[in-house]
Amino acid sequence: MSGEGLILLVDDDPGTRKVARANLGLEGFEVLLASSGAEALDLLAGTDPLAVVSDLRMPDLDGIALMAAAHARRPGLPFVLVTAHATVETAVAALRQGAVHYLTKPIRFDELALVLRHAVAGERSRRDVLRLRGELERAAGFEELVGSSPAMRQVFTMVDQVAPTDATVLLRGETGTGKELVARAIHRRSPRRDRPFVAVNCTAVPRELMESEFFGHEKGAFTGSVARRVGRFEQADGSTLFLDEVGDLDHTVQAKLLRVLQEQEITRVGAQDAVRVDVRIVTATNRDLEAAVKEGRFRDDLYYRLNVIPITLPPLREKPQDLPALLEHFLGSFSVRYGRPAPPPPPGTLAALEGYAWPGNVRELRNLCERAVLMGWAGVLSMVGAARTEEAALVDPALPLLEARQRLVERFEREYVTRLLRLHHGRIGEVARAAGIAERNLYEKMKTYGLSRDDYR
Ligand SMILES: Nc1ncnc2c1ncn2[C@@H]1O[C@H](COP(=O)(O)OP(=O)(O)OP(=O)(O)O)[C@@H](O)[C@H]1O
Ligand SMILES: [Mg+2]
Repeated sequence: MSGEGLILLVDDDPGTRKVARANLGLEGFEVLLASSGAEALDLLAGTDPLAVVSDLRMPDLDGIALMAAAHARRPGLPFVLVTAHATVETAVAALRQGAVHYLTKPIRFDELALVLRHAVAGERSRRDVLRLRGELERAAGFEELVGSSPAMRQVFTMVDQVAPTDATVLLRGETGTGKELVARAIHRRSPRRDRPFVAVNCTAVPRELMESEFFGHEKGAFTGSVARRVGRFEQADGSTLFLDEVGDLDHTVQAKLLRVLQEQEITRVGAQDAVRVDVRIVTATNRDLEAAVKEGRFRDDLYYRLNVIPITLPPLREKPQDLPALLEHFLGSFSVRYGRPAPPPPPGTLAALEGYAWPGNVRELRNLCERAVLMGWAGVLSMVGAARTEEAALVDPALPLLEARQRLVERFEREYVTRLLRLHHGRIGEVARAAGIAERNLYEKMKTYGLSRDDYR
């Protein structure tokens, strides 16, 4: 009887709801009804429909705003919008905001059923893909924290201690040391694990949009805000909110964030009333926050609030004991992902890796293992070898002069570009300007050295 799947239909008109339920029922759908956008959101919190059919014009929350709020929680959930007054502009607007289809009243139910069958099939396969990808990643162990060095054992102990609580955690450590991985591990071991982990990169969002990103906004709160938007704090209600690169927050936003942490409530941009939120905060930074506080770039009151439980992740060069396990972990994981055996590391690999300074830490090792699985060890090791920190490795008398000089130049260039990328968080334009070279030129070099801007964002 309900073989076609569960559908949510939203319309403020009782007549439409009744007719729709009967007709879609005949077409084989199971239909949930809501008479307003707010009711629809409530229903979405407790049920799992495969598509939503919503009236466009409704008194409180209109169809497009409902879609935006629903998508904040269920990205990609198919929406079919329906209206009595079709204009090309509204249709285009609806589709642009993410609706899969647009119909005019009176509804032709055979047409709607066709559209819904298509949307439901798409949604089912999308969910399959997500589930399989999740299973693959889990099977490949990418979510796992590896390491048994004393420094990492201490990190694991702290994670186990703080995870069950709501305590605010500040993760510190150089780039690529696993701060985000630890943040996720804390969430997964917490009572909040069934709700989605929400992460915001404070550097990635332009300053003017940060407040709306955090707290959301009402429709029309500022130019361009065509629909209400649910902010990250509301999205993370009942869950964990991870604020990455928190040291980069602008002063105004720092003040607002502090207030939210004190009051446990947020106010959307353009809204009158505050909304209570229950959010566990985990933050991370690779900056020297104490220096930022001293120089007045970071509020000290916010610093104390965020720094309740500091956990510092060691750089890879300080935990060489973990290299064998990490190597095995990444080679195994990439071998599963790419469905090909990992080539065994040639003799002397470990010594070469131990002598390397790892400016990109575990992330750099992970990338290196990926390349090794795909392309073999030869190129990979010459790169690490060429970037060895020891004096001896810099000048190799076993090579002809030109080649030895070339190695040295390459090592220098790679380190130089890496540092600039880190300094400018992967912003190509800035790096090229700082280096005084063309962007095209920079891209060439990054390609040569296997550097990806994404690793430095
Ligand atoms: N101990 C570890 N075990 C397994 N994988 C790790 C470990 N530490 C880091 N990684 C992997 O290294 C990569 C970088 O980690 P992550 O993104 O957590 O770093 P980060 O500290 O947040 O860096 P950034 O400051 O640049 O954002 C990820 O792919 C992560 O899975
Ligand atoms: Mg990170």
